[in-house]
This record gives sequence, C-alpha cells and structure tokens, in this order.
Amino acid sequence: MIYADYNGSAPISTSVTEYLKERFNQGEYSNPNATHELGRKMLFKMEDARRSLARVLGCKSSQITFNSGSSEGISHIFHSILSSEQKKKIIITSEIEHMAIVQACDYYEKRRGFKTETIKTLENGQVDVNHFKSILETHKDNIAMVTVIAANNETGVIQPYQEIGKLCQDNNIIFFSDTTQYIGKTPFKFEDSYMDFAVSSSHKIGALIGSGFIISKNPELLRPFIFGGGQESGHRGGTQNYLGIETMGVAIEDFERNQEWLRKVHELRERFEANMKNKFAQVYIVGESAPRLASTTMIAIPGIPGQAVQAVLETEKVYVTTSSACSDKKAGNRILESMGLDCNISGSVVRVSLCMNSNQALYDRIEEALTNAYNKLIEVYKL
Ligand SMILES: Cc1ncc(COP(=O)(O)O)c(C=O)c1O
Repeated sequence: MIYADYNGSAPISTSVTEYLKERFNQGEYSNPNATHELGRKMLFKMEDARRSLARVLGCKSSQITFNSGSSEGISHIFHSILSSEQKKKIIITSEIEHMAIVQACDYYEKRRGFKTETIKTLENGQVDVNHFKSILETHKDNIAMVTVIAANNETGVIQPYQEIGKLCQDNNIIFFSDTTQYIGKTPFKFEDSYMDFAVSSSHKIGALIGSGFIISKNPELLRPFIFGGGQESGHRGGTQNYLGIETMGVAIEDFERNQEWLRKVHELRERFEANMKNKFAQVYIVGESAPRLASTTMIAIPGIPGQAVQAVLETEKVYVTTSSACSDKKAGNRILESMGLDCNISGSVVRVSLCMNSNQALYDRIEEALTNAYNKLIEVYKL
C-alpha cells in the first residue's frame, strides 16, 4: 500500500508512534492544570512541547496558544479581529484559501457587515501581489485584516507571504496567514514572516490528530472563543489535549532533525515529474514554475478524468486525491479555475502528496503505478 495523501492527513510518524508506545506504557495521566505533582508533570511535558515548537518555529513560547487544530484557530482569529467593535470593514483574502477561511469570510460578510475583497491568482498558482497592492491602495483606511494562505493545500504552491506581510506591516494592518500546510513541511520562522497570526494542525505534521495551535505576534489580541478555567493564559478554555500536544513537540523536533531529507525529497519529486513528462508528452504539472512544497505534485493528462486515474491507482493500492469534475459546480476545482486552467486540465488532476522521509523506492513505485494507469486510460479515452 502506498499512501500519497499527506496533505490530507499525515499518518502518525515513526518517532511519534515510538513516543506514544513508551508514553502509554509509562501510563501517567492527569489534568495538566491540576496543582498536584502528577498535574505538574503533565504541565511540564506540555510546556516542553511548547518550547520545542517555539524554538523550531522562531517564536516565543508565550506566543503559542494550543487548540484543536487549524479550523478552530482560523475561527478564533476571525472572531478576535472582526469583533463588533471593529470599525474597519474590509477583509482582504485570496481565491486560493482553504474552505475554513472561505466560510469564515462568507459568515462575516453575510452576518456581520464586513466586505470581502479577493486577490486574483496568477497562472503559476501564486496570488497576484500587484492586484493586492491596488486593493490595498483603494481601501487602505478601512482594512480590518488580510488573510492569505502560506502554501496551498492542493497545488503546494508557496505564496509570497513575506511581501504581503511587509506591506501589511507598513500600513498597520493585521496579517493572518493560514500556515497549515507550510509548518512542518518547509522551514518557517514566525519572527521573519511579517505575520500577526499563523495556525497549525497536528495531523498535518505526523502528530496525533486533534490538536493544533495559533502563533500570535500579540496574544493579547485573541478574544476568548471557548470559555473555560483560564487555560492557555485565558485565551482558550478547556483542558488541553496534552497527549496530542506532546506529540506535536516530538513531530516538530523530528522535522528539525530531518532537514536534509527535505532537500532529497525535492530532488526526488523533480525527477519523478521529469520522468512522467518524458514518458507522456501531454503531462501537465500544476504550478510547475512556482516555488512549491517539496513533497507535493499535482499532475494531469488533459482529457483523462482525475477520478479515473485515482480509481485505477486504487486497484494497485496507491492512494492519491483528485478534484471533482468541472460539471460538479459545488465541488469544481475553484483553485485551479482561479489559475485560469481549463476544465480539461482541472478535471484531470491527481495530487500526489508525500512526507519528507519519502525515498527513491517510494517515488519509483508511484511512477510505475501512474505510468500503468495512464497507459491503460490513454487507450480507454482514445487519446
Ligand atoms: C490549508 C489548510 N487550512 C486549514 C485546514 C483545516 O485544518 P483542520 O481540518 O485540521 O482543522 C486544512 C486541512 O485540510 C488545510 O489544508
């Protein structure tokens, strides 16, 4: 079996599995907020994870607020910045955000009197910074928040978030970037990012599903969204998922140790894409000319439906994802459409997303399976 959907959810990593085995054997559990010795032990482990995350991600421990994951983090940031006292009414966003951002913008527009301005996408999958500048110029004094994803979950295209963040900083505007796919997949330092807020989910980095965090330049801007017993410095109530949090500490240290792999996986990905293009002249790689996450490939042979490729691969137990056909209006691939790709391509893509420890043998097996699938389907679709 080959699992190639790490952008959807990463399997629990080997180091986290080893950690958990030992942790379960050891069997010490308690509320980390309890004042007795066992509580203090849990608190220490949790704070240790916070310190590891802060060190690797270039922020202070006090800037990390633990929660249940990115969807919660995104909702919390919107709730904090777009309060009823907020006088500025424009949210600037992009066409390539995750649905958690799209739906939040929609809610604040329909129910809270805000208006969304959307940055266009360039053909290479990056947001159009010039268009952003013109929106900024037009609405300068009325912008409540800018929210632009750091790396898109589907294409893997990395966005010019520092350029956008710097412009926000120069104009005193809050900048939030959805870093869910970025953190733990590529080097990131919050202190150099020009971001006011960043978010992460444990299951995207090989840790136990169900936890995550917000990094805030100024955590005092967070307005409580879940009330509780003063946990997370009063910013997020509820007993912390301390086991999940501990595993995020393990996963981020793993990431830090494995930087060399990141370079290797980038080379393997490039070779895999070049080989596929050599074998099939029609192969199209989405976002090929833009900087991309090392472990993501979105590939198509125009005219062969992505779902057909996915189904053939599945018979060989290779699991990739695809986007829906263009005729399916609701789920049609808005990200690819925003890049100006026609239905022939956007209906044909499959996404191969792996982890940083992927090796040559894994890419070889995927290449072989995809080659067989394309050969079969080229006949079926008479291309
Ligand atoms: C870019 C991006 N943002 C936000 C989310 C939401 O994360 P979660 O489902 O872990 O809350 C995801 C998950 O797919 C994502 O890829």
